[in-house]
Amino acid sequence: MTAADGLSPLPGRTGLFIGIRESLAYLRDPDRFIAERTERYGPVFGTTLFLRPTAVVGGIQAVENFLEQERSISESSLPAAFTALHTPYGALNQNGSRHRSTRSGYAPLFTGSAFAGFLPLINQRITAFVAATAQQSSTAIARDCKRLCLDLFAEIFAGDSLTTEEAEAFTTYNDALLSLSTALPSFRRGEAALARLQGGMTQRLARFRSGDLQGSAFAVFSRNRDETGQRWSGERIVTATVLLIWGAYIEVASLMSCSLILCQERPEVRQRILTEAERQGLDGQDLPGALDAWDLPYVQGVLRESLRLMPPGGGGFRLTSTDIAIAGFRIPAGTVVTADPRIGNRLASLFPEPERFEPERWVAPAATRQEGSRCPVAGTALRLPKGAWFPGGTGNHGCPGLPLAELCSRIFLVRWMQAIRSWHPADGTPAAVPYSLIPIRIPTDDYQLNVEPVD
Ligand code: HEM
Repeated sequence: MTAADGLSPLPGRTGLFIGIRESLAYLRDPDRFIAERTERYGPVFGTTLFLRPTAVVGGIQAVENFLEQERSISESSLPAAFTALHTPYGALNQNGSRHRSTRSGYAPLFTGSAFAGFLPLINQRITAFVAATAQQSSTAIARDCKRLCLDLFAEIFAGDSLTTEEAEAFTTYNDALLSLSTALPSFRRGEAALARLQGGMTQRLARFRSGDLQGSAFAVFSRNRDETGQRWSGERIVTATVLLIWGAYIEVASLMSCSLILCQERPEVRQRILTEAERQGLDGQDLPGALDAWDLPYVQGVLRESLRLMPPGGGGFRLTSTDIAIAGFRIPAGTVVTADPRIGNRLASLFPEPERFEPERWVAPAATRQEGSRCPVAGTALRLPKGAWFPGGTGNHGCPGLPLAELCSRIFLVRWMQAIRSWHPADGTPAAVPYSLIPIRIPTDDYQLNVEPVD
C-alpha cells in the first residue's frame, strides 16, 4: 500500500496518438498549451509529451508536494540529444551525491562577494553596449542582447570575450539540444560546436594557468574536488565553463529583451526607474557604485513582472521512480513530472489581476506610498509562499544563477533608461512581437527596435 493508492488519476488527455497532438501543441506555443490545460483541468494535469506520460504540476500545494517527494523524482528525463550534448558534467544530467558536489562546486560564483567583484565589468560592458545602441539608433534587440550576454558571461567566467566563431558555435550548440535524434545532422553539428567551444576554453584555461588571464570559473573550478575527492580534470573545468556560459546567456538575453518590450509603451516606468537609480547615486555611468546601491526594488519589480508575464521557459523534466501523490492525484512510477512556473504565474489567487503588468506587486507598500502611489496590489507578491513564483525552476535543480541574472538585468534597465528616451518597433515590423518559444522564449533575431537617445 503506498500513499498514492486509492487516489484519482490525473485529469487530462493522455495516450500515444493524442500525445502526438499534445506534443505539437506544446512545441507550437508552450504558454498557451499550459494556460488552456490549466483552465480546463486545474493546476495539475496529465498529458503525453514527446512519447512519455507526463504530469504537469503547478500552484502552491502541488509544488509543495513535489518538493516533499523530490527524492523520488530525481532522474533526469531530458531528450537523448540534450542529455548527450549536456555531457556527464552538466548539472541537469546529474542527481544524488554527484549533483550535490557539482552544486557546491558552483556556489562560490554566486555569492555577494563574487558579485561585487563582477560588478565593475558588468557595468562597463552594459554601459558601452547601451551607448553604442543609442548611437546606432536601432537594434535587433534579442540578437544583440544574446551577443552582449555571451561576451559578458565569457569574460566573467573565462576571462575573455568570444570570437565570432565561438559565438556562432554557442548558437549551433543551443539549437542542437532540440534535435529529435542523435542520428540527425543537427545533433552532429551540435557535437562539433561543443568540441570547438571546449577547444577555445582549453586555450583560455592554459592562459589562466600561466597567469595571463583572469576567469572566475577557472579559479573556482580549479580548486574543486568531485564526490570521490578527485580534483576536477582540465576537461571537466573547460566543459563546466562552457555550460555555465550557455546556461546564462540566452536566459538573461530573454529577460533583457522581454522587459524592454513590456516597458516600451510605459514612459512612467522609465521615469520611476530613473528616479530610483538617481536616489541610489547611480547616475554616474562610469562608476559602478557599491553592490547594495543596485538593490533597486522597483527595477527588480519590473524584472519579476517580466519573468512572470513572459517567462523564458518552463521547469525541468524528471522521472518518478515510485508511485507518488500530488495534490490528491496518483502519479504512477515512470511518469515524467515537471513543476511548471507558468501555471502559478497566471493564477489570480496568487497574483490579483494576473494579466496586469504591475511592478509594485514586488515593492513594499510603505515604499510605494512614498512615491505617491496607491497601487492596491503593492507588496502582495512579497508575501507569497515558496512554490508560487519560480522562474528558475525549484528544488534541488533550481537555478543558482538567477540572482546574477537579476543583477545584470537591473544594471541593463537602469543604463538603458539613462541613455535611451524611447524605443519602438522599427517600421515594417509586425504588430505582434515574433518570438522563438522553445526551449527559451526570446524575440526572433530579426525583430528590430528603433531607439531615440537622450539628448
Ligand atoms: C532569467 C535568467 C534565468 C532563468 C529564467 C533560468 C532558468 C533556469 C531553469 C528553469 C533551470 C532548470 C531547473 C530545473 O531543471 O529544475 C536552470 C538551471 C540552471 N541554471 Fe539558470 N536561469 C537563468 C539564469 C542563469 C544564469 C545567469 C546562470 C549562470 C550564470 C544559470 C545557471 C544555471 C545552472 C548551472 C543550472 C543547473 C542547476 C542544476 O541542475 O542543479 N542560470 N535555470
